[in-house]
Amino acid sequence: MQQNIRIAPSILSADFAELGKEVKNIDAAGADYIHIDVMDGHFVPNITIGPGVVKALRPHSEKPFDVHLMVAPVDPYIAAFAEAGADIITVHAEAGPHTHRTIQSIKSLGKKAGLSLNPATPASAIDSLIDQLDLILVMTVNPGFGGQKFIENQIDKIQEIRRRIDESGRTIDLEVDGGIDTSTAKRVIEAGADVLVAGTASFRGGAECYKDNISQLRASK
Ligand code: DX5
Ligand code: ZN
Repeated sequence: MQQNIRIAPSILSADFAELGKEVKNIDAAGADYIHIDVMDGHFVPNITIGPGVVKALRPHSEKPFDVHLMVAPVDPYIAAFAEAGADIITVHAEAGPHTHRTIQSIKSLGKKAGLSLNPATPASAIDSLIDQLDLILVMTVNPGFGGQKFIENQIDKIQEIRRRIDESGRTIDLEVDGGIDTSTAKRVIEAGADVLVAGTASFRGGAECYKDNISQLRASK
């Protein structure tokens, strides 16, 4: 069942020189999750932040930290992000041969486990793991950078995954990430998404705009 729409601002679009303040402001503006993009310069062509930054940000918000690991290999880093204060840890289906083990290790640390699919990865990649997942993240851009254009053909995949989640009878967040603004938000919500990651669209205009940015995204129906 599609849950209430939740907004997960990606701090990749925040002012990195003021990250603590930015997290506080976006929390106060109504963010449901704080989306943290971790990139390793290997799985994706960009390098962002590590567990030390997650730990430093933890006192600045009580909202769930939704940590998106674009990292391969990922297993050696799961414990560090769990200890740093991640609530949801999402790994990529393409990041290694033993995703099942990775998901189990996230769960064994008492954290929620997410699986992310790159645009070229089919919906069926979730099938053998769906009974353990708390979140499925559909990438609607190629991961690596904020501010990219939404990839249209992911709408069908969102619909397919919505059907699979409903058939499973489990409560699983269906999150989308990349190129989300008020117009693409409407379409992904119609397709069945219920958590919207938004970097550019959340942080545009500076702190005085964050509240409006988030409520407009939430109301994109
Ligand atoms: C892309 C990241 C996204 C990104 C979204 O690799 O996973 O979370 O920050 O940025 P926008 O919303 O600007 O497309
Ligand atoms: Zn992300």
